[in-house]
Amino acid sequence: MLGKPVPRKDGLAKITGQARYAGDVTLPGMLHGVTVRSPVPRGRIRAIRYAPEIDWHEFTLVTAQDIPGCNVIELIACDQPCLAETAVNHAEEPVLLIAHPDLGMAGKARQSVQVDIEPWPAVLSIEEALEARHVVWGEDNVLKRITLEQGEVDRAWDEAASIWEGHYQTAAQEQLYLEPNGMLAVASPEEGVTVWGSLQCPYYVHRALCRLFGLPEHKVRVVQLETGGGFGGKEDYPSMIAGHAALLAWKSGRPVRLIYDRAEDMAATTKRHPARIRHRTAVSREGKLLAMDIELLLDGGAYTTVSPVVLSRAVIHAAGVYACPNVRVRGAALATNHPPNGAFRGFGAPQSLFALECHMDEVARGVGLDPDEFRRRNFLQPGDAMATGQIVREPIDLPALLQRALELSGYHQKRARFALDNPTRMVKKGIGLACFLHGAGFTGSGERHLQSVAAVEATGEGGLRVLASSAEIGQGARTVLAQIAAQTLGLPGDWVEVPPPDTAEAPDSGPTVASRTSMIVGKLVQEAALALRQILAGAGYLDQADGPERFRAACARYTREMGPLRASSSYSPPPGVHWDDAAFRGDAYGAFSWAVYVAEVSVDLATYEVRVDDFVALQEVGHVLNPLLAEGQIQGGVAQAIGWTLSENVAWSNGRMANHRMTDYLIPTAGDLPPLRVYFEEKPYPHGPYGAKGLGELPTDGPAPAILNAVSSALGIRFRQVPLLPEHLEEALNG
Ligand code: MOS
Repeated sequence: MLGKPVPRKDGLAKITGQARYAGDVTLPGMLHGVTVRSPVPRGRIRAIRYAPEIDWHEFTLVTAQDIPGCNVIELIACDQPCLAETAVNHAEEPVLLIAHPDLGMAGKARQSVQVDIEPWPAVLSIEEALEARHVVWGEDNVLKRITLEQGEVDRAWDEAASIWEGHYQTAAQEQLYLEPNGMLAVASPEEGVTVWGSLQCPYYVHRALCRLFGLPEHKVRVVQLETGGGFGGKEDYPSMIAGHAALLAWKSGRPVRLIYDRAEDMAATTKRHPARIRHRTAVSREGKLLAMDIELLLDGGAYTTVSPVVLSRAVIHAAGVYACPNVRVRGAALATNHPPNGAFRGFGAPQSLFALECHMDEVARGVGLDPDEFRRRNFLQPGDAMATGQIVREPIDLPALLQRALELSGYHQKRARFALDNPTRMVKKGIGLACFLHGAGFTGSGERHLQSVAAVEATGEGGLRVLASSAEIGQGARTVLAQIAAQTLGLPGDWVEVPPPDTAEAPDSGPTVASRTSMIVGKLVQEAALALRQILAGAGYLDQADGPERFRAACARYTREMGPLRASSSYSPPPGVHWDDAAFRGDAYGAFSWAVYVAEVSVDLATYEVRVDDFVALQEVGHVLNPLLAEGQIQGGVAQAIGWTLSENVAWSNGRMANHRMTDYLIPTAGDLPPLRVYFEEKPYPHGPYGAKGLGELPTDGPAPAILNAVSSALGIRFRQVPLLPEHLEEALNG
């Protein structure tokens, strides 16, 4: 079962159109919900004006006053209202909800409402937030501050042979899942609240609804429908939409469906945090890193959402794959009046690693070493301490990984050849690399706090069901979890089903985020499957040597004679893993995936276009459970990162996304992509299921610096920001 490219469990239903997404589901008597939003980034709500030509009695209207519980989206800081009441803090902030049996009428009504807001001065960039001209949040516009320190950075500068500085910038990015956000709800004081929808984290939505309605846990039920992609964008925002749909259902007494169209989804929901990162680096005469002083600022937007944990991942990844005795990372997530930024595949690490890996190329050039040689001299080795003090215990061999990537890409030959290119050529060629890592699972003591549980149970029909809150969002969770259970019990894969999570029956195995599903939840599924076998063996229904048919018979007999057959497992950290939250030190992750990516580019001096011509993605991810899905994950992540690097540009206009359409916000198409050549190095991780580590986010970390390093080497000019658009190149080349 494992290590084989078994077909996806959800594949057939998706390609035959049988899969039911929120937009395919209707409930009897259903109303359609729409959202009225703030047109301005900040201000005081004076009034909501309803146009007189509409008969408002036909509509269900919900404002903050209609919320039965607490007007808050329960998450980390609980500072975000479900509906703005007296003030708005970002454009597109929800103020009023409208429902009607006819979607067109609901849309017309939305056009006929005016939210009258007295505008207040807004903070619309990291720079403005730092100036604290207008305070959005707290005393100094800071949502969260984290400092990571190792050694004594300030004493290292004097011993340095050279000191290098660089400032780097990254911009917002829209997740752009194929299926926009959507939810259906039924709700009443008697029956409680049930929602069905597109989501990654059933229990986040569950907790948010309990708080919003003031209901006990058993009165709230959350069920995932087929979900057309998430990438982090359906990590926290679905709690908002579920709340809105349920409030309309609660007030109207009718089922409500609330689905965003593409424009609304792009304008109103979370994006990748824009970042400003400053590096100051001391290097010895031998080309060894002596000190790294890093400042990292994220634009959190108007509310906290998941920014503190995005920041912590960004801070921890900021020193990358290098051993350095003195490291200081000072990070802050700042409040601005942008719509809140949130989770997006990579979760802070792409920003940090972009800055670091561009900076490493600059320092290498400065000290007169090739980019690969400078990195080689500073790589972490097993036994070394990382910036958090975590000792590298994985048997990683970064020089060998780098060597293989250089060979696969023909790096040195191409570099030499491109350097000899005729200087009058209008197309310049370059090749660049990035070496990086990505921590799998929740950061720090996150997994310990989550206390995830997964279960396996026998069905009446002689099969097994995996019960977990992990959502299939296109990444292959259903297939991989089924493979793990089947492998553990020696059963054919199609005997195991992994239903979409339903909080009424699936235990809380945590959110579907953080590259944690295969590695953390997969391990729980493996343990639960073993425990189930143990129950059968212990009760004398099964012998160790029994094959699949006898296993099936034993399940049937046990269920008949003893009742339901179900086993579960709950998380316990791998031995020797410790994290100190207060000191921000310790073992930040149970395991890391490691990678070297190489990008080859052409830069057209007539059109200023950058094209990626070839891409080698080599990674060490532990044992690969399903090579086809794993390769797909890497290719998808690289493609998304190429978009972030070269074309995706969120255009802001007074705090609103101005280009909130797929025609104006350019994600790469297949025609824009090079061959994405994916290679794995497999060093089984002893605490992952069958040696697996997380890999889903890793591919978003490396492409941007590899591509910018390639462009810089092609042109002999350093670039330090993404997206790198043709207009930026034109400006750099022509002054
Ligand atoms: Mo994710 S970006 O950890 O949903």
